[in-house]
Amino acid sequence: MRIAIGTDHGGVPLRDVLLPYIQDLGHEVLDFGTDSPASVDYPDYAEMVGRAIQEGKADRGILLCGSGVGVCIAANKIKGVYAAICHDSYSARQGVEHDQMNVLCLGGRVVGSDLAKLLVRNFLEARFVGNDPGEERHARRVNKVRAIEKKGFK
Ligand code: RB5
Repeated sequence: MRIAIGTDHGGVPLRDVLLPYIQDLGHEVLDFGTDSPASVDYPDYAEMVGRAIQEGKADRGILLCGSGVGVCIAANKIKGVYAAICHDSYSARQGVEHDQMNVLCLGGRVVGSDLAKLLVRNFLEARFVGNDPGEERHARRVNKVRAIEKKGFK
């Protein structure tokens, strides 16, 4: 898959570990930075990753900031992006399988590199099961989420 990755300064050390790991898993990486510890604004990186998904340039995204919270909030403002912070491997996998999560958000100041690799692997190995026989309820629920998005509540 093509994986877009973006981080603010809070996630740079973790991104530096994850980027080659994702490549080793056989994926193509689109790296949107940032590359230095200099302070930047997380919404800018969430937007770049989100737009790459929206425009079909990336299949999934990984976003990092200090806590994972800021990038997650920002990414979910982008139509077609379904982002979540998953700091446990069960959610990192099930978020894709049941909820069609397409962006994994991680806190660079929260999770260590070995756990982060496990989370990323679970996220990237998982696939949405809502179209499988007997699993239609997940597609129904995802469609309801899309309907909420479409209504564009103000
Ligand atoms: C930046 O200091 C920090 O606020 C940011 O990386 C992130 O944790 C926001 O959620």
